[in-house]
Amino acid sequence: MSMTDQDKALYEAAEAVRQRAYAPYSKFQVGAAILADDGKIYAGCNVENAAYPVGNCAEPSAIAAMLAGGGKRIRRIYVTGPGVMPVTPCGGCRQRIREFADLDVEVISHGVDGEPLVQTLEQLLPHSFGPEFLDK
Ligand code: THU
Repeated sequence: MSMTDQDKALYEAAEAVRQRAYAPYSKFQVGAAILADDGKIYAGCNVENAAYPVGNCAEPSAIAAMLAGGGKRIRRIYVTGPGVMPVTPCGGCRQRIREFADLDVEVISHGVDGEPLVQTLEQLLPHSFGPEFLDK
C-alpha cells in the first residue's frame, strides 16, 4: 500500500519519538503522532512507571504535546509499535482521542513489521460519549 506524504511524515514522527519511549517493564515501545488543526505534527511516547498502573500511553503524551504547542484539535493520528499486529489505541485512549477529534477522524494503527490499519474514530469507539453531551 502506498502512503501519502502526510502519512509518511506522521509515521516518521511516531517512529522517531518511539525510540525515546520509556518502557523498561513491557519493553513495548509505542509512538503516536498527531496532525493538529494548526497544521503541525505533535508526537509522544509511552512512559511507564515502577508502580505499573501509573504509566501512560503514547497517545496522551502526544495530546499533551499538542496542547502545549498550541494545537487544539486532532485532524489525524498515527500510532506505531512493535510487531505485525496493528497497535490500536486502548479503550481509555480512544476516549482521550474522542475529546479532541471529530468522529470521522482517521486513526492509523501500525505494528511496524505489518501493514497500517486505517479506521475512523467512530469505528474504534461507537456510540461514544463526548464533550457536546455537557454543552461544551
Ligand atoms: N501502549 C500505548 O502507549 N499505546 C497503545 O496504543 C497501546 C499500548 C503502551 C502502554 C504500555 O506502556 C505498553 O504499551 C504495553 O501495554
